[in-house]
Amino acid sequence: MAVQKALWYSDLHLNFLSEKKLTLFIDSIISRNPDLVWLTGDITTGKKLIEHLELLVNRLPFPIYFIIGNHDYWGSSIEQTHENIRELVKKYPGRLFWVSDKLSLPFSESTVLIGNEGWYDAMLGWPRHLVFTWDWFHISNFRALGCCKRITSFQKVAADFTSKMRESLLSALNTHDHVYAMTHIPPWAEATHDVGTFFGWFWLPYNVSVKMGMMFKEVMEQFPNKKLTVLCGHTHSKKSVQISGNINCHVAGADMYRLDNLIELA
Ligand SMILES: [Fe+2]
Ligand SMILES: [Fe+2]
Repeated sequence: MAVQKALWYSDLHLNFLSEKKLTLFIDSIISRNPDLVWLTGDITTGKKLIEHLELLVNRLPFPIYFIIGNHDYWGSSIEQTHENIRELVKKYPGRLFWVSDKLSLPFSESTVLIGNEGWYDAMLGWPRHLVFTWDWFHISNFRALGCCKRITSFQKVAADFTSKMRESLLSALNTHDHVYAMTHIPPWAEATHDVGTFFGWFWLPYNVSVKMGMMFKEVMEQFPNKKLTVLCGHTHSKKSVQISGNINCHVAGADMYRLDNLIELA
């Protein structure tokens, strides 16, 4: 199979763009002529998610593979958001892929894509401030809870995504040598710019899914000859780190005109 080029973006937050800027952005993607477009969440805000996904799939002549981020749930619940996405994806077979709903998506004999949203799990820094994040206010699953239960609820959501990712990863490693995993929340503190900073205590509980990172490491230790590349966003702060001998993690910035986000899938 010929090498495919995937253009990867994260944290587009399209709800903040004027119609003119949105058109310029779409034109810039088309001019770069990728084979695929990959999105790792915070595409827009929950109320606009279906409208903006539909706009992208109708204007871009390339298949779109995506996961969503915490902002994409705003104004709705987790279950309703997922249901809406499933209904939308059914309308665009072969053109719009919600990666979370697939066990794995092979691109070649050696390369495969897996992924899901992930969630921050408040295991680093000072987690108490998470009771005041906007996510609890805008996502009905969390808003329905008293403040004491919000943190455990974030951790439950993070654990569910982690266990689903483990299943996908193990399946992918059985058939392919190089796994790309999309997840919105960085799985390691060292993939953020927060460690050792004055405000690290504030951001780390919100910026890392610790259990997801532990799971990735534990599974990849069992497959030393295979490779995992994790693609994420959320922090809006670009960084690439080697986590272990066979794991790399890339966090995308939120700059939609970056020229270095082209991934070659051999
Ligand atoms: Fe974001
Ligand atoms: Fe986010």
